Amino acid sequence: MTTFNSISDDIVRQIRNIAGEAFVYTNRNDLEKYSHDETEDLRYFPQVVARPQTTEQIAQLLKLCNEHFIPVTPRGAGTGLSGGALAVNAGLVISMENFNQIINIDERNLQATVEPGVITQVFMNAVEEKGLLYPVDPASKGSCFIGGNVANCSGGPRVVKYGTIREYVLNLEVVLPTGEVIWTGANTLKYASGYNLTQLMIGSEGTLGIVTKIVVKLIPKPTQNVLMLASFTTNEQACGAVSAIFRAGVIPSTVEFMERRGVEWVIEHDNINFALQDGIAAYLLIEVDGNNADVIFSECEKINTALEEFECKDILFADSSAQKEELWNMRRIMGVSVKSNSIYKEEDTVVPRAELPALIKGIKEIGAKYGFESVCYGHAGDGNLHVNIIKAGMSDEDWNTKLKDGIREVFELTVSLGGTISGEHGIGLVQREFMPIKYPDINLALMRGIKGVFDPNGILNPGKIF
Ligand code: MLT
Ligand code: ZN
Repeated sequence: MTTFNSISDDIVRQIRNIAGEAFVYTNRNDLEKYSHDETEDLRYFPQVVARPQTTEQIAQLLKLCNEHFIPVTPRGAGTGLSGGALAVNAGLVISMENFNQIINIDERNLQATVEPGVITQVFMNAVEEKGLLYPVDPASKGSCFIGGNVANCSGGPRVVKYGTIREYVLNLEVVLPTGEVIWTGANTLKYASGYNLTQLMIGSEGTLGIVTKIVVKLIPKPTQNVLMLASFTTNEQACGAVSAIFRAGVIPSTVEFMERRGVEWVIEHDNINFALQDGIAAYLLIEVDGNNADVIFSECEKINTALEEFECKDILFADSSAQKEELWNMRRIMGVSVKSNSIYKEEDTVVPRAELPALIKGIKEIGAKYGFESVCYGHAGDGNLHVNIIKAGMSDEDWNTKLKDGIREVFELTVSLGGTISGEHGIGLVQREFMPIKYPDINLALMRGIKGVFDPNGILNPGKIF
């Protein structure tokens, strides 16, 4: 394990020379914003924050830190939920906020080149103005950076039809911890030219290199969609209906699960005008999109028929774009409203989708055994449930000690159902102790070996994933 050095005054001077006086912080007040992300209430202060503006500056900063064994934590918008951007060893934070340009949208090739500090929604809007679609839209799309999405292999509600960011990134410019700059692949839709370093970088959570340019594929924007909200008497019925929709021959663009308590808290949080019916335990928000109204209509009919096999009480069809927006907003702010209601911990389980009923049943049983409550919601079409564990009546002692065993059991269940311990939030700091539940030593040794090849001194985002 590397013994890191702290940043001496002389090195601070060199950092200022590289990044520019105005773009380096050392004052505690300035560092505060960079001491946390959206993960629980964790806080780790870096010693120095640099906000470089060019790839060359990042190369020089990494070279300097590598030579002096100074830990470096790359940082996007700080919206992560697994502590990936926390400077657990202090050192230098490199914030990507000044890499905020959309370099080009190439309508000839349906590609775009974008810097990592561009807000995902800003990029999506720019693409949509040209009649194109970049469909990777995590709930935090209004504030997260596309670079953070690459680092965490982000998904969001439309993964079920359109895939994760993995399906869209074609090529990356990356600065290695040694200061060398590479392009990982080619701007092509196919790649059969040796190991795929582009895919290796995606989801590596800033442990292998710092991404400075991203080339993504775009697709034509579908012209129509139908959004429906189906209500169910039990969680398991709602979860069971998910795989039935696909078995009926439809691939919706969204199938989101929302537990009743999550919807109640969203309504309170945003003062939303939505009447919750008695006897409803859970909802599925289902969207079908495409370019042909007849096809969409027949897909909705198939979904309807599939849902009849389950205790589905009601299906509300959104009848205006305003209503669609309201329903989407309810789903998107669920994480925020849970956080504002309760001390909580967020786990990100994913299983093959037909195992969802067993997963949700097991989560509630484990909660009863350990005395915790949970609010579950998420991308059910992908088998991905965000499990928000809320403190409720749990004592501080149980919350700080016993809960860990309960969480471990949730992940053991997830893995036993063929799943894994994070679908889209990453491993970061808070999930790394659970990695051995999923991976035997050989897999972890292979991952560590890869890390060592890229980052021999282990300076880049230490304390994450492993
Ligand atoms: C979501 O789907 O809402 C996001 O992944 C964020 C969250 O879980 O809070
Ligand atoms: Zn999510």
